[in-house]
Amino acid sequence: MTNEEIASVTETLQSGWISKGPKVIEFEKQLGEFTGAEHVISCNSGTAALHMALLALGVGEGDEVIVPSFTFCSSVNVILHVGATPVFADIREADLCIDPEDVRQKLSPRTKAVIAVHFAGYPADLDELDAICKENQLYLIEDAAHALGTQYNGTMIGTHGDAVCFSFYATKNITTGEGGALIVKDGEAAERARLYGWHGITKNAWNRYGEKGSWRYDVLLPGFKYNMTDIQAALGLVQLSRAIDIQEKRERIAHYYAAELADLTDSSRLPLVDIPTGITHSWHLFILRIKERSGMDRDLFIEEMKAKNIGLSVHFIPVHMHPYYKEHFPAKLPITEKIFTEIVSLPLYSQLSEEDCEYIIQSIKETLTIEKGVRQ
Ligand SMILES: Cc1ncc(COP(=O)(O)O)c(C=O)c1O
Repeated sequence: MTNEEIASVTETLQSGWISKGPKVIEFEKQLGEFTGAEHVISCNSGTAALHMALLALGVGEGDEVIVPSFTFCSSVNVILHVGATPVFADIREADLCIDPEDVRQKLSPRTKAVIAVHFAGYPADLDELDAICKENQLYLIEDAAHALGTQYNGTMIGTHGDAVCFSFYATKNITTGEGGALIVKDGEAAERARLYGWHGITKNAWNRYGEKGSWRYDVLLPGFKYNMTDIQAALGLVQLSRAIDIQEKRERIAHYYAAELADLTDSSRLPLVDIPTGITHSWHLFILRIKERSGMDRDLFIEEMKAKNIGLSVHFIPVHMHPYYKEHFPAKLPITEKIFTEIVSLPLYSQLSEEDCEYIIQSIKETLTIEKGVRQ
């Protein structure tokens, strides 16, 4: 956080309006300009955005939604919250995003929507997915929790699918502490999303208590309380103004990691850094894959790096491997299951210092080569 973020939040705290108000409205406007989208609905989490997307598009009881298992659990939990059934699709090795070929395999007469996750900030194959959705009259929903600033076909993520869901959780490229936003292509669906996110009430508090406001309001459907607050939006506005700068810093670190680790390619696999034309990677995550032939177990690698004071994480434990989903929605997803055993996410944030990056690289090299030596 810079002094600018602190000043912006302080000003809002002193303004007399801390819940949904002018800052939220301005944040939605700015996010619309950033993404090129018309209908932006801010909310209190990426999960809420996904839930509202399904509700607004009328996905519910009796419907199936095709979704990757290689994602955070909330991309799938929300499908159950609307009474629909998740159908897991596998991912592609090249980009770790949902495999359109497997989506085709998983289609059924009950399929209503496909959720594509832009994993780590690299875009899913939207052209192929869009073609499948159009052919079969399905909704395309993008889980863009990792993908603010990602571009596909030279266009910002936000204007491709029927609904696009962002997260501004603390670890995301830009943050509001907790927060999210939903973009909906269709104007009527966007209005429904707004209703669902605000108790089903036709007027929000800012309108009600403002100069032209009235005490009257109507409840049109049983909605949820998913709104963003002005405190969050005050933070988000400054973060959004720095989004490209933050992204460039992350990109520099990702390219440094990739260059430094290039000589370890017999024991690890790096993410794609030679990005095809038209695509911009937001570099939310840098995923290193530990190859089986390195002789190094992924879990042991994490332990050894931890002993060197480097915290690594795993994105993600596939959803179908969690106890609830194993019991209720068993699936076989060979690529997802194999990749899960190999992946670690390296530290990646805009303020990571050069010394820290060098130390991380040196530690990875030591850990992977030493272990290889021992086993040979
Ligand atoms: C792929 C993906 N989808 C959805 C979410 C949910 O976002 P939030 O934590 O803002 O609810 C996350 C958050 O980590 C995520 O990584």
